[in-house]
Amino acid sequence: MSIKNKSVLITGASKGIGRALALVLAKKGANLGLVARSEIELLSLKAEIELMGAKAEIFVGSVANEDFVKETIHAIVKSYGKIDALINNAGFGIFRKATEISTADWDSIYDTNVKGTFLFCREAIPHMKSAGGGHIINIASDVAKRVFDGGSLYCSSKYAQDAFSMALRKEVRKDAIKVSVVYSGLVDTYFHNKSEGDPHQAKYLTSQDMADTITYILEAPKHVVIDELMIHPISQDY
Ligand SMILES: NC(=O)c1ccc[n+]([C@@H]2O[C@H](COP(=O)([O-])OP(=O)(O)OC[C@H]3O[C@@H](n4cnc5c(N)ncnc54)[C@H](OP(=O)(O)O)[C@@H]3O)[C@@H](O)[C@H]2O)c1
Repeated sequence: MSIKNKSVLITGASKGIGRALALVLAKKGANLGLVARSEIELLSLKAEIELMGAKAEIFVGSVANEDFVKETIHAIVKSYGKIDALINNAGFGIFRKATEISTADWDSIYDTNVKGTFLFCREAIPHMKSAGGGHIINIASDVAKRVFDGGSLYCSSKYAQDAFSMALRKEVRKDAIKVSVVYSGLVDTYFHNKSEGDPHQAKYLTSQDMADTITYILEAPKHVVIDELMIHPISQDY
């Protein structure tokens, strides 16, 4: 299915996977909504996209802020008339023993990785229903299906995001709304507190690999839904 002139909202678009995806979709002529907290990065991405001849609206705020999410969805629908696809990509990790996790750490991870996904889905779905369909792609992690020592907080948030997605899929399939989940292994992004291109991350997937994969899911024919996609670098055990 062609992405051209489709309205696509990407959370976590200021860097990493979200930024790379925005550039791939811009090249294909999508109308983009870009969400993150870093205004300078979003402004520079918008300028790059507009130079390519595509449209981008930026929304600066946290996915955990209910009013911000409502205003963002309202503004996207006002600008582009609809919302064809929502990519819930914003997320981060804190890796510590459970006994060393503060309540603030717990809340910040769940607010972003779980509540952010929920809020954007809840606000976007009524618009997708009235348009006769839509596509939600939630960027989880392979640790939505396995755990490791030090991962109690991050893994449990990704399990929760995944369980939410699986139940949501059952709820909205009859409305022709696709719900896809991407389970990824290591990706060379700022997520690991290193810059993209850091030699320690040389064997990881790239943001471009992820952007191309998400685009493949988005471009599936209308009658096809890729419910789940697991992806790893060949260097990582699975
Ligand atoms: N990198 C990996 O190895 C890996 C593996 C599996 C899954 N993932 C998942 O992939 C997704 C994207 O991560 P990435 O690797 O691209 O990391 P990244 O380079 O750190 O990018 C994360 C993005 O999320 C945004 N973000 C974080 N908290 C936010 C909030 N509260 N509100 C709005 N935006 C927020 C950040 O923007 P601002 O800081 O500007 O808000 C940034 O644009 C995450 O969900 C992550 O869990 C990553």
